[in-house]
Amino acid sequence: MPKTFYITTAIDYTNSPPHIGHAYEKVLADVIARYHRLKGEKVFFLTGVDQHGQKVQQSAAKAGLPPSEFVKELTQKFRDRWKTLEVKYDEWAETIAPRHQKVVQGMLQRLFDAGQIYKDKQSGSYSIRQEQFLTDKERGPDGQFGPEWGQVELREEENYYFKLSQHKDWLLRYIDNRKDAVIPDFRQTELRNAIDRISGDLCISRPKSRLDWGIELPFDKDFVTYVWFDALTNYISFAGYDPSLSTFNSQPSTFLEKWPALQIIGKDILIPAHGIYWLIMLYAVGFPDEAMPQLLVHGWLNISGTKMSKSLGNIIDPNTLADKYSAEAVRYYLMSDIATGKDADFSEERLIERYNADLANNLGNLLNRTLNMAHRYREGVVKQTGGDSPLAAQAADLVQSYSAAMSSHEIHAALERIGEFVTTCNAYIEMTAPWKLAKDAQRAEALDHALFVLAEALRVIAILVSPVLPNAAREILYQLNSSGDYTFENVSWGGLPKKHQLGKPVPLFPRIEL
Ligand code: MSP
Repeated sequence: MPKTFYITTAIDYTNSPPHIGHAYEKVLADVIARYHRLKGEKVFFLTGVDQHGQKVQQSAAKAGLPPSEFVKELTQKFRDRWKTLEVKYDEWAETIAPRHQKVVQGMLQRLFDAGQIYKDKQSGSYSIRQEQFLTDKERGPDGQFGPEWGQVELREEENYYFKLSQHKDWLLRYIDNRKDAVIPDFRQTELRNAIDRISGDLCISRPKSRLDWGIELPFDKDFVTYVWFDALTNYISFAGYDPSLSTFNSQPSTFLEKWPALQIIGKDILIPAHGIYWLIMLYAVGFPDEAMPQLLVHGWLNISGTKMSKSLGNIIDPNTLADKYSAEAVRYYLMSDIATGKDADFSEERLIERYNADLANNLGNLLNRTLNMAHRYREGVVKQTGGDSPLAAQAADLVQSYSAAMSSHEIHAALERIGEFVTTCNAYIEMTAPWKLAKDAQRAEALDHALFVLAEALRVIAILVSPVLPNAAREILYQLNSSGDYTFENVSWGGLPKKHQLGKPVPLFPRIEL
């Protein structure tokens, strides 16, 4: 069965609008997905929204809307943003979808029947304002619960629990046996340490009297499932998983050909959600070790070192940036300025700087100068003449180092390699000085050679840059009159016909003037 490359992101909470942090994750996944499509692989890219839970219920109440209406509006906002940013997903996950709810309930029922879920009573200090039980961790230095918790009372509540700690040894073994379960390495080490500290089971329900905006437990209609069993399950429910089939291998082929996924998540939801709960949930319903998803953990985008938050009023809307500078300027900034796995500070100045230096000055100039010279000296017709060009060997090296970087999800490194090659090509123009060659009839062949290799270099660059800048890539190929289907197969040097009419030059990356 041909394997599909399956990539997912976290699903975003629909309790507030999308911001640039959410956008970073979606663009990163989109670029990886496009790279795999470019290589000719079949790709399934899933992203979406997390619509249930306490926070959503509270935000909806504040807005005076029923939760279903409230999430509808926000869900549309997320979809609109991703469309603007050219995030091209294959399937959209919404946790209110009936097909998703069916899978969540099917999984819960199976775990309940297998004795993996039990009912228990919890009693202790309960914050009415925050609607949660408090532990000693929440006490201040004076041993009291601070004012942020509001009125705190003693309460007793029954809930359902999933036998998490029973699977701790399996998870340790799995993580120790698979060195790339989590990328980057240091996150795997963090996870390993956290697994050591697992104690106790996972509370998976809330009584409906407290929270009703959720998925009802199939074995007790007075409860809904709380947060993780609902949200995490999206990764398999929208890929065609059938919870009524007990063994992994008996799953439908449409699911088996996709799974396991490469899952992109932020550092805040590795521990305990994805690294512990999710892997153990999968194991408990019968997924073998080799069917565990790989977790690619990215850092956080901050504003001047602090967290973006509604209360600080420092939320950056990706749409505002896209309107101001273009969607591709935003994509390029996010992918070139942030090293995968590391935190970064968002900076509009950096966005402008990078765009002007790398796109307007370097790549844009290379395209414009090459096409202008070809039109001025040769009416836009380039011809293959002479022997090998040093640019050919460098392009081959570039394809190698680019592929290595892209395959290890180091998009910023791949863009850096492309940038170096563009700089080399601009230096080649200075060195060969076509304007001088054009004045000397004896050097006609040298001029043809230079123009041809520059056009060919641009063709290669356009293909390589296409996962990050899909529109710009299409436009470069259009101006080279080399459009049509392009894949990684025709990235190697020599793709232009021996005699070729180029298109008209149109400035592609106008400088951003402040
Ligand atoms: N709904 C949960 C995830 C459930 S996945 C089964 C959630 N939602 S979230 O909206 O808070 O975050 C969604 C994703 O966006 C997470 O991967 C999170 O790390 C990422 N980011 C949220 N803020 C971010 C930044 N400021 N910077 C980078 N990524 C950020 O968690």
